[in-house]
Amino acid sequence: MSESTRTLLPMAELTRGKRSPVTCQLKCDNACAGEVCNTSANAYFRDIAGAALGRRQLLGLGAAGAVTLALGAAPQNASAAAPTSSLFAQSWHSSPLSFTPIAPVDRLVDELTVPAGFAWKPVIRWGDPLFRRSPEFNPTQQTAAAQKQQFGYNNDYTDIVELPGSKGRRALLFCNHEYVNPAIMFPPNLDPAEARAITRAAHGLSVVELRRSRRGTPWQYDRNGHLNRRFLDTTKYSFTGPAAGSSLLKTVASPRGKTALGTLGNCSGGTTPWGTMLSGEENFNGYFVTPGTSASDQRYGLTSKATNNGWELDEPRWDTRNPGYQNEVNHFGWIVEVDPLDPQSTPLKHTAMGRFKHEGANVILAEDGHVVAYMGDDERFDYLYKFISKYKYRPGDSAAARAWNKKLLNEGDLFVARFEGDSATEIDGSGKLPKDGRFDGGGQWIPLTRNGASVVPGLSIDEVLVYTRLAADKVNATKMDRCEDVQPSLSTGKIYVACTNNTNRGKVGFAAADEANPRNENRDGHVVEITERGGQTSGRFDWNLLLVCGDPAKNNATYFGGFPKDQVSPISCPDNLAFDSKGDLWISTDGAPSTIGFNDGLFKVTLSGRERGRVQQFLSVPRESETCGPIVHDQDGLVFVAVQHPGEEGSWAAQRSAFPDYVGPGQRPRRGEAALPRPSVVQVFRGKR
Ligand code: FEO
Ligand code: CA
Ligand code: CA
Ligand code: CA
Repeated sequence: MSESTRTLLPMAELTRGKRSPVTCQLKCDNACAGEVCNTSANAYFRDIAGAALGRRQLLGLGAAGAVTLALGAAPQNASAAAPTSSLFAQSWHSSPLSFTPIAPVDRLVDELTVPAGFAWKPVIRWGDPLFRRSPEFNPTQQTAAAQKQQFGYNNDYTDIVELPGSKGRRALLFCNHEYVNPAIMFPPNLDPAEARAITRAAHGLSVVELRRSRRGTPWQYDRNGHLNRRFLDTTKYSFTGPAAGSSLLKTVASPRGKTALGTLGNCSGGTTPWGTMLSGEENFNGYFVTPGTSASDQRYGLTSKATNNGWELDEPRWDTRNPGYQNEVNHFGWIVEVDPLDPQSTPLKHTAMGRFKHEGANVILAEDGHVVAYMGDDERFDYLYKFISKYKYRPGDSAAARAWNKKLLNEGDLFVARFEGDSATEIDGSGKLPKDGRFDGGGQWIPLTRNGASVVPGLSIDEVLVYTRLAADKVNATKMDRCEDVQPSLSTGKIYVACTNNTNRGKVGFAAADEANPRNENRDGHVVEITERGGQTSGRFDWNLLLVCGDPAKNNATYFGGFPKDQVSPISCPDNLAFDSKGDLWISTDGAPSTIGFNDGLFKVTLSGRERGRVQQFLSVPRESETCGPIVHDQDGLVFVAVQHPGEEGSWAAQRSAFPDYVGPGQRPRRGEAALPRPSVVQVFRGKR
């Protein structure tokens, strides 16, 4: 157990069935309180990958070999395969990560709770210096200049890949920084313009070198790492793909429409087979003042009201009503690609992968060598997407192969999903299982682009890619309950989609439940399992719901892959996904405190054999935080999570969390440590903190 002290702080004023109002305001610009944007009428690598494929790739072993290795090491398809649970139970028991699930933790507890026999400590915290000459974090003396050289705020997507030739002693951490919370970050008497500059500098991305004495031990970050890098609001990004240079991307600062400055609202991401990192620009709309009148403004949730961060007071580009800046907002909402091994490289924004509120993107190699990326648009009633590269992957990590592969996401075809249930007439929104015993059916990937051209009537290729939501509306895509992470299993090729919740489903004026989104006022979310028919590049698929989430002790409208409900951990609001080396799924959650009353956490879900659907809670994060960026290096005995927005309902004078610098009763800080919450990347390992 962690040695931190459990502290009960005053009860938060929470609205059940909704996430924290502070998160709603700061992260999503109150997306759930406003109009629903979609009023259209239409009805790797990390994980097995991180341990095997990613490392092999970085070490120069071919990806094809890596896939073979993954297939050999992991269970074959769970639902269809012969029972192998005893074998896997055995191998899991011998794993350094075998664990006894923790009990769910009350939402007022300010503690990171891990299983018996495990401990945790931060890898890196908000404000930790990233460079030799960076200032130490000083909470009462913060400056934008310091923050630019320190780890950013609200870490979300996280991956850790070992560096080639380091024998497991050096690695790279990639992390993004989604949004900020000025009320708890710095003193209220700070100069307002400086405070806003700090918040800009706290966004973006970080690459940080890690070191340790030997494989299997916890990591320490290296502030002298020569690959350390911060991506700031002033960092230049290059657009790739068909819309690069489009008139829709031209601004006074980017007259050719080929570059953008900065990245915003980064949520989840992915790691590619060629060793680059992807990050999704999600809630970018909340950073802009716009006319708010065009179809695209309304479809993307853009309004004319003042923003939470107030950057429009400092720089004209945050108000698109300013002459020359009308397209500035089109510079955000993309998938970003970063090469962490080259600190001089220009990061990319891939227009071929479409523009929406990208949660993230996860890439898998198809059997024929093309790469396929799966992506969710995280907004109520928005869509699930798939991208197939035009060109094929080249194995190996020669400079030539790597240069080639780094262009694979520049060109390709974009599709959106339509789901069809096989028990559609039985779906009444209650969550009751149909007579065939499953929420399931078929579906198709509907093309939006082909060979660099639009296939959506009435829209040009530039319009399809820049206003992808409007294009998808025209082809009768299925309105989903907020697709967060969408991740293919490298052991089976199946795709898992975390639909986190949608409390408007089935309400008057909104889309009714369907078999893929079977509960009205869906508070707890569900997880879809997709099997491509005939390979990863197929146009058709089969699907079923692996989980219909909730607390089964209180909610009968739940489903756990057929596993007995009285033997699972309650789980609500699935968000980020990862796989372990056995091919089982790990899910981190975002929103459980306001639905089932427990702090968010990380859960292992067995996918194969007789225990398919068994949910076991591994850890619980401190109050008012969400669990992000899970990484399961089980063969290394390590699990990582990014703890985002701990204590976010507090204020500077009345902080509600002391994570992660707990020191004992009274939560007094050690010398040099702050009595304020610090979003951090945490590692969990066997032993004591
Ligand atoms: Fe930033 Fe979709 O959660
Ligand atoms: Ca069915
Ligand atoms: Ca998320
Ligand atoms: Ca979320």
